[in-house]
Amino acid sequence: MNQHRPNGFATRAIHLGYDPTEHAGALTPPLHLTSTFAFDSVEQGAALFAGERAGHIYSRISNPTLDLLERRVADLEGAEAGLALASGMGAITSVMWSFLSPGDELVTDRTLYGCTFAFMRHGLAKWGVKITHADLTDLDAVRAAMGPRTRMVYFETPANPNMRLVDIAAVSAVAHRAGAMVVVDNTYATPVLTRPIGLGADIVVHSATKYMGGHGDLVGGIAVGRAEDMMQVRVVGMKDMTGAVMSPFNAMLVLRGLKTLKLRMERHCQSAAIVAEMLATHPGIAAVYYPGLAAFAQHALAKRQMPGFGAMIAFELKGGLEAGMAMMNRLKLIRRAVSLGDAESLIQHPASMTHSTYTAEERQAHGISEGLVRLSVGLEEIEDILDDLLQALNASQVRLSA
Ligand SMILES: Cc1ncc(COP(=O)(O)O)c(C=O)c1O
Repeated sequence: MNQHRPNGFATRAIHLGYDPTEHAGALTPPLHLTSTFAFDSVEQGAALFAGERAGHIYSRISNPTLDLLERRVADLEGAEAGLALASGMGAITSVMWSFLSPGDELVTDRTLYGCTFAFMRHGLAKWGVKITHADLTDLDAVRAAMGPRTRMVYFETPANPNMRLVDIAAVSAVAHRAGAMVVVDNTYATPVLTRPIGLGADIVVHSATKYMGGHGDLVGGIAVGRAEDMMQVRVVGMKDMTGAVMSPFNAMLVLRGLKTLKLRMERHCQSAAIVAEMLATHPGIAAVYYPGLAAFAQHALAKRQMPGFGAMIAFELKGGLEAGMAMMNRLKLIRRAVSLGDAESLIQHPASMTHSTYTAEERQAHGISEGLVRLSVGLEEIEDILDDLLQALNASQVRLSA
């Protein structure tokens, strides 16, 4: 082994921060299924509470199983520290409650995951935080949106559901010049495909429910960033304001998911590229949004910012919403379900499902069309995914032309 070269991504995802010799030789890390931690003495407990000693107190604050996950994800994202939370929404809301105050402004992209949009519109706004939606794909629009009270710039890239990309380095530079912090939802890309911290972002959040867990058997969230910022989110947003801590059992499942994250992402990307090409040439399809397609509006940025283009595809059928619904109902292998990033290919209709938190007018204003179909390409054999899509699309075609 070359001692001068740091271990690569997959090796760190499997080994980082764990030495079996410290745990009776157990190959996999122990699961610390405990709510609280016993103190040696009252004095020791008081010192832990005062922050004069390091150690665990109560599992809503920290837990050794979560600690390992937090260190691994932080490392994979190139961040100083991490935090494991109960859900992606737990991560997003804990970060926002930690840094935003009444009177502050939050600048965000036009397109966001439905519950993030709802939290801003119906949650933060109620508490006096001004939300400004700007087209973050246009740097002049970003500059124009920044005000003296802009505390945070928040975006997803690629964005759920329409796959818009945001130039992380360029937007971070504008935000920092205006004194705002940058928070990026990296759920779609994962650290295999994009590491926003290295491009200038301050905090990265994830729904670990998706690719990180990878098997559709948990709900979890992650935040990573500077140690000081993560401490703030731990003791304010997570401990006191949301209580949205991840369970040790789920942390164990995410640690297991991480071991195959790179391998899975490689296969996800390979299969999605083939599916996107098929859709782009199918006569029943009106539009396909996938960053890997040469015709994708932001393909140049995708190539610069992402070594692979992910496995989420959005598309519209020529027959619009009705044809899209009929096609989805004909699928036999691909599951009609929300969520994404699982081994199973999943398909859903954002306007009536994940983005039904927007009103129809809001969807129109925010670039989410009523007929859009969202596909999460899974890990099944590519021939089987293609066969299923084609039989559903071709049957729709026959009906349309009949
Ligand atoms: C991009 C994105 N961010 C955040 C979330 C919220 O994650 P969770 O469902 O784990 O709370 C989701 C869920 O679909 C998502 O797609």
